[in-house]
Amino acid sequence: MSYQNISIDLQGRIAILKIDRPSKLNALNRETIDELHEGLIELENDNDIKVVIITGSGEKAFVAGADISEFADYSVDEGKDLAASGQEKLFDYIENFSKPVIAAINGFALGGGLELAMAAHFRTASKNAKMGLPEVSLGVIPGYGGTQRLPQLVGKGKAMEMIMTAEMIPADEAYRLGLVNHVFEQEDLIENTKAIAKKICNNSLVAIKAAIEAVNAGYVFDEDGYDIEINAFGEAFGTDDFKEGTQAFLNKRKAEFPGE
Ligand code: COA
Repeated sequence: MSYQNISIDLQGRIAILKIDRPSKLNALNRETIDELHEGLIELENDNDIKVVIITGSGEKAFVAGADISEFADYSVDEGKDLAASGQEKLFDYIENFSKPVIAAINGFALGGGLELAMAAHFRTASKNAKMGLPEVSLGVIPGYGGTQRLPQLVGKGKAMEMIMTAEMIPADEAYRLGLVNHVFEQEDLIENTKAIAKKICNNSLVAIKAAIEAVNAGYVFDEDGYDIEINAFGEAFGTDDFKEGTQAFLNKRKAEFPGE
C-alpha cells in the first residue's frame, strides 16, 4: 500500500513506522492518523514482523502534536469526534497491539505526539528530545489519552504539573521520571532501539501478546488484572511456544518458537 504521510521500512523482523510530514513537524492530521491505522493493520497481519518501532521523520520532531490548523474551527461535537475516533483508530489500537510497539522519540513529542509515544508499550528518546502536553496553552485539554496515560507513567502530581504549566521537559528529565526508558545520542537512537527490539525477537510472541493483555488489564477499571494474568498464565501451558521454550531450556538450545 502507498502512503502520503507515513513510511514503513521492514528490517528483518523489525518494522520502522515513520510519521513523515517534516515540514509540519510531523503533526497528526486525520489523514495521518488513518494512514498510521492502516499501516499498523498491515504490520499486525505480517507474520514476518515481530516488533514495531514508531519514530518521526527528520531530526527535529517525533510529532509536534495534533494538527492545530485542522481543528481550529471545530464545534463541540466535532471536537468529541476527533478525540474519540483518534483514540479508537490509533492510540488505544497501539496500546492493545498484539506485537510490541516502541516509540523512538527523535525530537519534539508534544500534545498528540507525546500521547502517541505514551500509547506505545515503552519509549526511548534522543538527547535533543523535548516532551510536553501544551494543550491548555491553546485552551483545550489532551484528547488522545494524555490525561490518563501521563499520570500512569509519571505519577499524578508530576502529570498535573506538566499539564497545567504546558511546559516541555528535556529527555534527561523524562528518563528520570520513567517516561522514557533510555536516552541515546540522536544518531544512535534507531540502532540502539533496534538492539532492544532484537532482544524481544528472541522471545515468544504468543507469550508477549498475553503479557501485553495482562499488563493492560490492570489499567482498566472494571477488569481484574490478577485474574487476567492467572488465566493467561494457565493458557500459556497449552501453547506450542511453551512446549518449545521449556524443551529448549532443558536441552540447552535456543528456542525456535513455532507460534508466529
Ligand atoms: N499543528 C500544525 N502545524 C504545526 C504544529 C501543529 N501541532 N506544530 C508545528 N507545526 C508547523 C508550523 O505551523 C510550521 O508550519 P509553517 O512552516 O507552514 O508555518 C512548521 O510546523 C514548523 O514549525 P515552527 O513553529 O515554525 O517551528 P519552531 O522550531 O519555531 O517551533 C515548536 C517548534 C514545536 C515549539 C512549535 O512548532 C510549536 O509550538 N508547535 C505546536 C505544539 C503544540 O502546541 N502541540 C499541541 C497541539 S494540541
